[in-house]
Amino acid sequence: MVAYPRPFIKWAGGKSQLAADLLCHLPSAFNRYHEPFIGSGAFFFQLYRDGKIHNARLSDFNTELIDTYCAIRDDPGEVIRELAGYPYDQAFYYDLRARDPQSLSLPERAARMIYLNKTGYNGLYRVNSLGQFNVPFGRYKNPKYMDEANIHAVSLALQRVDISHAPFESVIDHAQPGDLVYFDPPYSPVSATANFTSYQAGGFGPEDQRRLRDCCLELTGRGVHIILSNSNTALVRKLYSGAPFATSEAYANRAINSNAGRRGKIVELIITNDIPRRNLD
Ligand SMILES: C[S@@+](CC[C@H](N)C(=O)[O-])C[C@H]1O[C@@H](n2cnc3c(N)ncnc32)[C@H](O)[C@@H]1O
Repeated sequence: MVAYPRPFIKWAGGKSQLAADLLCHLPSAFNRYHEPFIGSGAFFFQLYRDGKIHNARLSDFNTELIDTYCAIRDDPGEVIRELAGYPYDQAFYYDLRARDPQSLSLPERAARMIYLNKTGYNGLYRVNSLGQFNVPFGRYKNPKYMDEANIHAVSLALQRVDISHAPFESVIDHAQPGDLVYFDPPYSPVSATANFTSYQAGGFGPEDQRRLRDCCLELTGRGVHIILSNSNTALVRKLYSGAPFATSEAYANRAINSNAGRRGKIVELIITNDIPRRNLD
């Protein structure tokens, strides 16, 4: 049986829920697909399943995440063999967590990342000031970290996909007229306590949001389609107000939030651009 690829990790801000809204904003045609904040890749896998991706470049700042994508693309069998030997056990979790990913082979790094993600507390990705993963063991009934069919399906979807460890601006060096870029940045915080920016030491502040907007302007001038999702904040509305951008609202259930009382439906923004016809040629 052929499995359809799905995200192989849980990731804060995963886009499974917004997928239907995002699809409404897809241009009628586009060439290459770029996703510079790939995370768990929910929208990429959705587009792949819908047969809309023919050529793609995926990137992210998170080295362990990108290593995992590369290992699954290039050596799924070895990732599966590795995971198959891992027990769901607290002592094993902490031993594996303590290992330096740089001392492991690429498939071992990928297996470690998937295992820690699926058995760690709440599917969080959090590192300390030294960049070491520090999420505690999570208690689950039967965590499915060994999903052989999906790893093979994901590997198939990633064949001939360019996967890079890079800051989002690198998209400027790669996107051509008629391409589509989907940006799903760490969200602009809706409150002082919102913790959506902590994927990586350093976070993603207002200055980064501004640089991202400038990047969108540059791509628009070049004739590149963009779709961007972000939180519903005054900063985001201001950055993208008026031409060439159009802003619409969508509803999402935020599943990963340390404050369980604040889970629920919230408004998020989807921003697209209007490209002058002449810039597409
Ligand atoms: C909201 S998440 C993306 C979620 C993704 N769409 C999904 O479905 O899981 C944001 C991602 O941006 C990455 N990131 C943070 N700062 C970055 C930067 N300056 N350049 C590139 N990626 C960055 C994080 O590692 C994280 O994976």
